Amino acid sequence: MKKIRIGKPFNTEAIINFDDVIDIELKSVVSYLNISKDDGFKLTFDMGKSDIVYGLGENVGGLNKRGSIYDSFCTDEFIHTPDKKSLYAAHNLIIVDGERKFGLFVDHPGKVRFDIGFTYKNILEISAENANLDLYIIDGDSVKSITKKFRLAIGESYIPPKWAFGFQQSRWSYPDAKSITDITDKFRDNKIPCDTIYMDIDYMDNYKNFTIDEKKFPNFPKFVKEIKDKGFRLIPIIDAGCKKEDGYDINDEGLQKNLYCVDEDGKPFVGAVWPGKVHFPDFLNPKTRKWFGDKYNFLIDQGIEGFWNDMNEPAIFYSEKGIKKAFKKIDEIRDQNLDIYSFFDLKSTMSSISNSVEDYKSFYHKVDGKFIRHYDVHNQYGYNMTKAAGDSFSNNYPNKRFLLFSRASSVGMHRYGGIWTGDNKSWWEHLELNMKMMPSLNMVGFLYSGADIGGFGSDANSELITRWTQFGLFTPLLRNHAALGTRIQEPFSFDSETTDILRDTLNFRYALIPYIYSEYMKAVKDSESYFKPLSFEYEDDMSRRIEDQLLVGDSIMLAPVYKANSTGRNVWLPEEMLLWNAKKYTDINLEVKRSGFNYIDVDIDQTPLFIRKNKILLIGNHAQNVEAIDNTEITLISFVDRSATYTLYDDDGTTNNYKNGGFSELNISIIKRDDGLFTLSTNIKGTTNIKKINYNIVNTEGRIFTGSKTI
Ligand code: GLC
Repeated sequence: MKKIRIGKPFNTEAIINFDDVIDIELKSVVSYLNISKDDGFKLTFDMGKSDIVYGLGENVGGLNKRGSIYDSFCTDEFIHTPDKKSLYAAHNLIIVDGERKFGLFVDHPGKVRFDIGFTYKNILEISAENANLDLYIIDGDSVKSITKKFRLAIGESYIPPKWAFGFQQSRWSYPDAKSITDITDKFRDNKIPCDTIYMDIDYMDNYKNFTIDEKKFPNFPKFVKEIKDKGFRLIPIIDAGCKKEDGYDINDEGLQKNLYCVDEDGKPFVGAVWPGKVHFPDFLNPKTRKWFGDKYNFLIDQGIEGFWNDMNEPAIFYSEKGIKKAFKKIDEIRDQNLDIYSFFDLKSTMSSISNSVEDYKSFYHKVDGKFIRHYDVHNQYGYNMTKAAGDSFSNNYPNKRFLLFSRASSVGMHRYGGIWTGDNKSWWEHLELNMKMMPSLNMVGFLYSGADIGGFGSDANSELITRWTQFGLFTPLLRNHAALGTRIQEPFSFDSETTDILRDTLNFRYALIPYIYSEYMKAVKDSESYFKPLSFEYEDDMSRRIEDQLLVGDSIMLAPVYKANSTGRNVWLPEEMLLWNAKKYTDINLEVKRSGFNYIDVDIDQTPLFIRKNKILLIGNHAQNVEAIDNTEITLISFVDRSATYTLYDDDGTTNNYKNGGFSELNISIIKRDDGLFTLSTNIKGTTNIKKINYNIVNTEGRIFTGSKTI
């Protein structure tokens, strides 16, 4: 990996492992990249006709990013249409896959533009107004190896507790203790597994961080315990902005200790979010991080074990200056006859009050004793909010895992928490976007991620919620969340047939947890992807092009149904595979599918799953929540023409003891003998609860060998 330093870059902490990094001068940069730095930063590359450009983590578009412009500028964007250039994250990695294969990481905390063949169809142009940055060129002979080098350089991804792989239910909002209790009862009455219930902004006293509305939640610690005794954990939201209110401790302490961002005059900057006027903690200042991070203890001390950090791009509804300007404009035109131009001008004045660049340019952080304009380091804000929480958890509770994820992020934040992909909608297009975004997120280290299942805005119908849950059952973060005012969309909120299907689907998720957890942990430890494009494992040209099928871990390929009114879909099989068109995980039906295109029928109650050749899939059992699962007996499915091996990783799921050998590995090997039968052998490192494996081994003629093995 080569590093070119241009000017005096801000240290973003994105890259932390420099073992493989060689510093080179700008003038020695490889000939195929043209770089200039005199009028801002500009890099161009002539793309070959069939080059694929991967990357950019969380953004709109497909896996191949060609044909559009993308901006890395963390944005509170609540309408994710294809014309948008930025979502909540800044993930500045792209990987070119063509005759030349290389990755580029633009290590810069400000706005970076990626014009990937939009202005000129074969020109990739990366630009930044501010030319103080580090550029990394990552070489390798495949996208997979380039990704791995990058992942090794940015450090290990965040590991949540194992219960965070269970199903999670959210809504803006379950506003009081009774509504949460009702929801938990419904999950148990309907026998649908679930591990967490989310608490959105209404749990707070007037949207003040680190407060509880006592009227809605009298005796909060007792309530947290009651809910936990029923098998659920509560996950409260924390917002970036803190209410400006005299007498509110967070306001007063932050002001007194100079921990908030300031305006040009050095006075605390005032913006507005949910509670009206707020101050924004200066998360780039280590003192603020320590102070804010330790405030999470207010909730931890009452039994809370997980959080979601929100509005940390930061989202600003309006600033005092911005809204004054808008009111002035309204006053000026109040009595006028508004024509086409003046009316649209009025509309745009109002809509541009929020998240305005002018506001981002008008406040400052204090870093190493110097004031830095927010706009220049904008993409570091969400990162540092989550780092504040993550650092505090590991200082105060060094051996406990917390659930933590954020809306805004930049590369590096993956070490402290996961992300959810923000305010999507109940649109089929957003199920598709969810599917295509997952491998890109993995490339930049965000393994613990997922979208709002069913869509956040707009209303979901039963078909969409079903298909989305069937895909979501493979995403590490599996959370159904919906916005205020939308149709209710918990798994039991539709008709009884849908409830039955979703129960089976979510039971399947719980049965898959041994596999999902094992693949997740191995991906973290080995700096590999959990979600992979087909091209990571298959070299044929079609596999390079396919965007709507994914590899999940080492053993399975997914071909989700993501279109309305579909009763099936076409699937590309780069090699023969074993199809399990699953309804219930306890009902194993296997069919060998030959390589090439196959049309498969997929009823609304089916989740198609392809087991790769010479690979092994292990299935456990479901329970009401992750901690209640009994996996003493597990099921093995394998498709073998020669031999297959699998390592099932496991650990206690709640501590960091795995770092000191506190984990187990069940190694399974299947070998085809000369007589056509199979030998299944196992060996165990560490201790496992698994006592028996029920196996289903399928040979290439489709013959199934079943039986069980005690271990
Ligand atoms: C933001 C979040 C969303 C949350 C809402 C209210 O829009 O993205 O998930 O429900 O704020 O807190």
